[in-house]
Amino acid sequence: MKQLSNRQILLGVTGGIAAYKSAELIRRLKDAGADVRVVMTQAAQEFITPLTLQALSGNPVHTTLLDPEAEAGMGHIELARWADLILVAPASANFIARLASGRGDDLLTTLCLASDAPIALAPAMNQAMWRDSATQANIAVLKSRQAHLFGPAAGEQACGDVGPGRMLEAEDIARRAADLFQSRDLDGVSVVITAGPTREAIDPVRYISNHSSGKMGYALAQAAADAGARVTLISGPTNLPCPARVSRVDVISAEDMLAASLNTLGKCDVFIACAAVADYRPVAVAEHKIKKAAEQMQIALVRNPDIVSTVASHPRRPFTVGFAAETRDLEHYARDKMTRKGLDMIIANDVSDNRIGFNADQNQVVVFWPEGRQAFAEMAKSQLARQLMALVAQHYPHARAAAQPSS
Ligand code: C5P
Repeated sequence: MKQLSNRQILLGVTGGIAAYKSAELIRRLKDAGADVRVVMTQAAQEFITPLTLQALSGNPVHTTLLDPEAEAGMGHIELARWADLILVAPASANFIARLASGRGDDLLTTLCLASDAPIALAPAMNQAMWRDSATQANIAVLKSRQAHLFGPAAGEQACGDVGPGRMLEAEDIARRAADLFQSRDLDGVSVVITAGPTREAIDPVRYISNHSSGKMGYALAQAAADAGARVTLISGPTNLPCPARVSRVDVISAEDMLAASLNTLGKCDVFIACAAVADYRPVAVAEHKIKKAAEQMQIALVRNPDIVSTVASHPRRPFTVGFAAETRDLEHYARDKMTRKGLDMIIANDVSDNRIGFNADQNQVVVFWPEGRQAFAEMAKSQLARQLMALVAQHYPHARAAAQPSS
């Protein structure tokens, strides 16, 4: 069910005894990497509490259309746009009828109308209600509008009847939801990216830093998430918004960045070091603001740890990618850096041309790995990021297979 990684699923829960299975369904979807938001109808809340589904989904549960507080958070139109899939499980006979007639008389039906996302229904009702010609006519209408139908299964029912109308099991619904999505290059792969500058404190108000904007690292994070990866972006101070579906860890100094990076090992498959880490930090941080007195002053500096080399030499090392900004002999210096730092791949750019690199929106790079190289034309960082992630996705599985002990 890797295709569910990073997908945004709006789970509609309507009134029926099968609503208890929605709790299990949320767990299955979340285990597969999906982000789940729940919308409950009034009747659903008679069977299971919003609190239960909120705790399981990790997101507030939406219950009413015109609640000013909820609208101030994620409003209904925003929620409709957010969804990659609207999955209604259980879908009651009443809900199916309201959806078929195009009503927008509660939050869930309104969302179905307002969203362009595909809709999947897992019906659950008494066998006679399912067989009823009105329900069958409604189902035919919804199918003609491309709604996906998951089930129902036949069997023993809560009311004691036997026949069609049982909601499918959670596992089955999650698998069918996954089948609606195409697989992507990095489905289910965990990618950690460092980005931006670091700041090394001199005193409470001053620091040493650099001009890195973080744009390349943020573009890579976005591209990795779009390719299905679970992305952690370990970011120094930047002015950029966190890309969608990316979890950001904010850090200030190189030492913070190292700690945050080491924290991901064991659950990180690919590590990309894009940050412009300060090479040195002040030996000591003054407790109070340093007063100006002498004409000259010196600040003693000490080397910062090399984050990417530390990650690459760790026993639980991920596939590790670094960057090299060079002003001459690009291939020679980049390959040397790749070997010294123990990297699987290095992305090199020539920064003697100041139109590209730091702060720019364009970049031009050559990528080296032990047995090969690939040059990329100058292009927007967002486009380059997609091509770089495709290259990483090509190489990462081979590296992983080579690292597996043969049985
Ligand atoms: O040695 P240099 O700074 O040129 O290496 C650049 C690469 O090493 C980049 O991938 C950068 O993110 C990483 N790096 C690091 N920790 C440092 C210095 C650089 O991870 N302290």
